[in-house]
Amino acid sequence: MSMRGMDLLTLQELSKRDLERVFELTKELRARVAVGDLPPVLSGKSVAMIFQRPSTRTRISFEVAIRQLGGHPIYLSWEELQLARGETIEDTARVLSRYVDAVVARVSLHSDLEKLAEEAPVPVINALSNRFHPCQVVADLFTMLEHKGYLEGLKVAYVGDGTNVCNTLLVGCTKMGVDISVACPKGYDPDSQAIEWARENAEETGALVEILRDPAKAVEGADVVYTDTFVSMGLEAEREKRLKVFLPKYQVNLELMSKANPDAIFMHCLPAHRGEEVADEVIDGPMSVVFDQAENRLHTQRALLALIV
Ligand code: CP
Ligand code: NVA
Repeated sequence: MSMRGMDLLTLQELSKRDLERVFELTKELRARVAVGDLPPVLSGKSVAMIFQRPSTRTRISFEVAIRQLGGHPIYLSWEELQLARGETIEDTARVLSRYVDAVVARVSLHSDLEKLAEEAPVPVINALSNRFHPCQVVADLFTMLEHKGYLEGLKVAYVGDGTNVCNTLLVGCTKMGVDISVACPKGYDPDSQAIEWARENAEETGALVEILRDPAKAVEGADVVYTDTFVSMGLEAEREKRLKVFLPKYQVNLELMSKANPDAIFMHCLPAHRGEEVADEVIDGPMSVVFDQAENRLHTQRALLALIV
């Protein structure tokens, strides 16, 4: 089925075949950008980019990708929209859809994104919500594919907070037949809907899904060790409490990496908090692919935009 015009809110909307198509187009467009031969598939199209939270990678990679494809990105900080003065999300969605061809949105509450998508006839792409970060995980899977050469049969260990990124990894890995073991403290488990989707996907692809407490157990036999911040955006007030819960047990350091496969890679969506969820020796070490991973946001989003918008 075509991805044209679809909303991308959680990643569960995409099939394994869709993701394979995204990866193929990612490679093709990356090769073409290198020789200055990108097709202007977004020519004459405008994309609104609503950000309710800060962003370095997502904002810039989307803006660059949209421009490279001949489109016009419009960055809209939530604070500068009438949204901040109480205009409803639904009305904002209806109005924006009269002007633009797609909406990319980073929101605090996933339910706001659902309202936006419900009311906007144009495609809505999640640029991170409290529950899901699909564009991140598309880039992550592509990064694993590039570094390992294949996806089906790989094992990812996610250590730390059951965040938006962890939820989406559960969905994305299981779609592609990648085993995933999550180790998180009690009370910081991934989203129950994400676990349910992961189990459904795993039944189709044969992937293994484990939610554990012990990081050492999760990284056993892992090809990829992944972590994210212990204090996601919006949770700053819980910082002290969270650091007490997560440290030292859930930090990805050399000792924990030594329990994974010898050729395991380290991944992180960034921004990283060195000395908290990851030790310098790991993120700056030879096993770290975090900057390739960040670069791949641009390459994979180019493909997503070309297929969806
Ligand atoms: N990984 C990621 O989404 O980074 P930003 O918050 O900088 O966009
Ligand atoms: N879990 C993090 C991801 C940042 C890209 C957050 O929500 O802040």
